[in-house]
Amino acid sequence: MLKFVSNRGGGKPVDFETAILDGFAADGGLYVPEELPNISKEQLEAWKHLTYQDLAFEILSLFIDRSIITADELKSIITKSYNSFEKEEIIPLHRLKSRKETYIMELFYGPTISFKDIGLAFLVNLFDFFLQRKKEFLSVIVATTGDTGPATAHFIAGKTTLDAWVLYPKGLITEEQERQMTTLPHSNIHSVGVSNCPEGGDDLDFVIAKLYADKNFKEKVKLSSVNSINWGRVMMQTVHYFYGYFQVVDEIGEAINMAVPSGGFGNLCAGGLAKKMGLPVKNLIIANNKNACLHRIFSQGIFSKEPIHETVSSAIDILTPFNFWRYLYFCVDKDSSKIKRWVEKFEETGSVQFDKSSFEEYKKGFLSQSISDIETISIIKEIYESENYLLDPHGAVALTVADDLRNELGEEKLICFATAHPAKFPETIKNALGVNELPESAKHHSIEKAKKQCQRGYSCEQSYLKEALMDAMNNNWELNHSTEINN
Ligand SMILES: Cc1ncc(COP(=O)(O)O)c(C=O)c1O
Repeated sequence: MLKFVSNRGGGKPVDFETAILDGFAADGGLYVPEELPNISKEQLEAWKHLTYQDLAFEILSLFIDRSIITADELKSIITKSYNSFEKEEIIPLHRLKSRKETYIMELFYGPTISFKDIGLAFLVNLFDFFLQRKKEFLSVIVATTGDTGPATAHFIAGKTTLDAWVLYPKGLITEEQERQMTTLPHSNIHSVGVSNCPEGGDDLDFVIAKLYADKNFKEKVKLSSVNSINWGRVMMQTVHYFYGYFQVVDEIGEAINMAVPSGGFGNLCAGGLAKKMGLPVKNLIIANNKNACLHRIFSQGIFSKEPIHETVSSAIDILTPFNFWRYLYFCVDKDSSKIKRWVEKFEETGSVQFDKSSFEEYKKGFLSQSISDIETISIIKEIYESENYLLDPHGAVALTVADDLRNELGEEKLICFATAHPAKFPETIKNALGVNELPESAKHHSIEKAKKQCQRGYSCEQSYLKEALMDAMNNNWELNHSTEINN
């Protein structure tokens, strides 16, 4: 049976169910499969015409032992997860007219209109499946830069096995994103707007790590996480790389390029692993805004933290791409002692310089670039005016970086990931297009509805977040769950 281990080497190997429900490994590391599957050309041929759901079933089956989830159970979790998506294809591709062989992968047809729906729809239903079977309950906590939070809240709303605590940096996400979390009426959803976050979402990740480290508290409220620290998110996100590939190639084996707006490296960690598993991708393109941590890692071999820039692509205003450590593990012959040493050095000093051979190894197959807001805004305008197609600011970052790197990419087809719907960023769209009224393509019925609903949720100042949150979570536990569990 495939086991999962910490990328920092601590603890014992665990099965898939434990890796998913724990979130973090016991030593604070990230779970990784002991082996990555190899996917042959014949397998790829056989998968080429599958629906998104059937393809997901094939790929996930490589990681999930049938003794843990039967084939029928897995199929039913997948079907349930994607039946609320607006498009039958789940992630359609749009071909641009103004660029040669360039496709936009539209990852925003889930209920909260960002690519986070893709991983979270499945992961939340998987949690629910395991917890119903065990007759247990968990409190899930996530930090968000605007998209993980709405998706988590949406999928957990009304589930009897889960409570969601969703932390967001107040003022650093759009009002539309905030309303997606705060207008849900369900009593198991607790959104927490945190003011004064000088490091944005990273401040919230820091508090979550502290809560995890408090073993008594963690045990008492049964804490877990569905942030992309959770292996289930990364695993599910490998599927859209395969699916996108099959939609654009003429024959299996043809290499293509893929450009991804990146922050925490969760999405690209999945892309890197898909490539290692055998997907013929020539270049994975890391698209950073001014917060260029990943660009520094991949161009200079330095993992370092610098002050945050607030940008129009705010969902990728992320300073610490923690999923890079997960990918790196597979690039250094699974040497967990190296990962542990580097993580500790980063935590102590705020910076790690990688040795030359590790740097050469992990950057294979990746290109990176960091771009400005002016470029982001101008490409939104250009594509809208030239082909009446509206990009959101994150898709715009991906396309701009790919355009910048065209000479290095070669003639291969290119897929740019559009990770959110423009309706989440109306002010930036108005600014980019120079209009006061949004065009219809910048609106979404769910956002329009949320504008007219009451908001509810906690608000808190960052400096006392940890204590306040522990208090609120404890109270909620005493009020709502202590008797259920005791009975
Ligand atoms: C719209 C959008 N695009 C891109 C990203 C970056 O994804 P990742 O953190 O997996 O790199 C995020 C979230 O972080 C997002 O919300």
